[in-house]
Amino acid sequence: MCGIVGYIGNNQAAPVILDGLARLEYRGYDSAGMAVFDGEKLNIVKAAGRLKILEEMTHGGSALKGCVGIGHTRWATHGIPNEENAHPHFNENETIAVVHNGIIENYIFLRNMLQKKGYQFLSETDTEAVVHLLDYYYKGNPLEAIRKVLHRVEGSYALGVIFAEHPDQLFAVRKDSPLIVGQDENGCYIASDVPAILKYTRKVTYVDNQEIVRLRGDHMHFYSIDEEEIQKESVMIEWDANAAEKGGYEHFMLKEMYEQPKAMADTLLPRIKGQDVVIEELNMTDEELASIRKIYIVACGSAYHAGVTGKYVLEGLSRISVEVDLASEFRYRNPVMEEGAMVIVISQSGETADTLAALRESKKRGFRVLGIVNVVGSSIAREADSVLYTWAGPEIAVATTKAYSTQLMALYLLALKFAKVKKTVTDQEFPGLLEDLKKLPDQIELLLSNKNPIQRFANRYIGAKDIFFIGRGIDYAISLEASLKLKEISYIHSEAYAAGELKHGTISLIEEGTLVSAVVTQPELYAKTISNIVEVKARGAFVLAVTNEGNFEIEKAADYVIYIPETNPYFSNSLAIIPLQLFGYYVAVGKGCDVDKPRNLAKSVTVE
Ligand code: M6R
Repeated sequence: MCGIVGYIGNNQAAPVILDGLARLEYRGYDSAGMAVFDGEKLNIVKAAGRLKILEEMTHGGSALKGCVGIGHTRWATHGIPNEENAHPHFNENETIAVVHNGIIENYIFLRNMLQKKGYQFLSETDTEAVVHLLDYYYKGNPLEAIRKVLHRVEGSYALGVIFAEHPDQLFAVRKDSPLIVGQDENGCYIASDVPAILKYTRKVTYVDNQEIVRLRGDHMHFYSIDEEEIQKESVMIEWDANAAEKGGYEHFMLKEMYEQPKAMADTLLPRIKGQDVVIEELNMTDEELASIRKIYIVACGSAYHAGVTGKYVLEGLSRISVEVDLASEFRYRNPVMEEGAMVIVISQSGETADTLAALRESKKRGFRVLGIVNVVGSSIAREADSVLYTWAGPEIAVATTKAYSTQLMALYLLALKFAKVKKTVTDQEFPGLLEDLKKLPDQIELLLSNKNPIQRFANRYIGAKDIFFIGRGIDYAISLEASLKLKEISYIHSEAYAAGELKHGTISLIEEGTLVSAVVTQPELYAKTISNIVEVKARGAFVLAVTNEGNFEIEKAADYVIYIPETNPYFSNSLAIIPLQLFGYYVAVGKGCDVDKPRNLAKSVTVE
């Protein structure tokens, strides 16, 4: 979603803003702009398309002089991506400039009201209502105007605001859209995410809902919506800027796939003590855990797919009934929920609007919410009752790989913990399961080292129209994720189907040469899925099978086979997904797609 960067200090603002926006490109955007105060007036430059255009228009920022400014990359919601709709937006006299991430839900009402008062709107955006409303309330005191605006706007927002009459100040405010601030000896910064300012400072402060920050060159003050000054703690960011660089890889996605073994080990090892799983972050006794009979998992996209696998693993190992919901459905379907249940929300960014809303809905109903989250200090991490962090490190590519893998690991750990306290796995079986988990990082490494044949195979499918993924049980969950990975970055139409469901409709789509990828890792379902392979082959499909080492029988049915190392079938997702991630990646690379920043997509979906 949109990215915001702002700076006030001794240095020229425009280069700092451009650099910060470039580091937020992964969030997804389709236009960009900046406003810088040059000592007399606000200069605003905007352009549709890539940030490169803005850089060229301003000669890398050097053409926009001034030490205070705000910048924005816009992911279009209200109005097409063009120059008029790009941010910053400004009032008629161009004395107030605003950048915004989020959605102002009552903007039509505000727009009508302001138009009646004579305000002219130049764009189709919801944001423009904010800047005119600021103008309407501004009587010389910026803080007071912002406070009044916050009382009138509904929806989600992170805002950066400059008033030309107060060029020694920069304002930031948020509700339900991420925003951080930071400071070094050269000035103060605002940004949508840490990588934008990590080059300058590791000490950042998370702005909380409906807080206003007034930044000057050498200090920051925080206020509540009622203008009371508040004290805030800052946090030290542990990872360094290199973690958010490509480090010699062609794409972030490839780098992040290669980081999976470490991310998996980092998520697993601190939570294994001897022969036990210890998850202190749960803050629950074994008795409390043992009393849980129902779990609701709620998430979006790949995190939802991790949840689907989690259902099979949790139900299988701990015999707790699990329901998995898409957050966008859960939040509005008024679900009937069992008393005493636990809600698990899963999110890499910790900012996904629907997942956050599902968390709040669950808490409102009195349920305990556990967040499985990657971004430390994110909204979901802060609002959940307890947080199980996935230690994947910063994930930049829009298509998730390492965060998804660590979400699986977190769910395996939970399943084992529940199994132990509920005694649904015997003391003899438990150490073997732990050993299998510990082997996963090396096994993933092995699969990654064998990428060349997958690249060659993928090259054959860069012209494909449709590709299908099928599997049963956990293999179906793997197929869901493999299909999403392929389609989001290669733009090839793809569907995942429960293998047994094909003959109820989808099989009519199979034509001569259609690629069907069959995931076959669950020994008790081998024969069933092989029957489905035979069915699609009879209709002309070319079948790629991903299966366990030793299942050589499959070669009689499938055309091309990728073997994964031996593990417990509950954990096979973590291995089978690796060649399928590589497949999706190499198809997209072969097609010349913008792998890290696929069209229309955003890394962190902060609007519903
Ligand atoms: O940050 P989250 O994990 O909450 O994001 C959820 C989805 O938006 C995300 O997984 C999305 O589907 C990815 N593009 C998939 O690669």
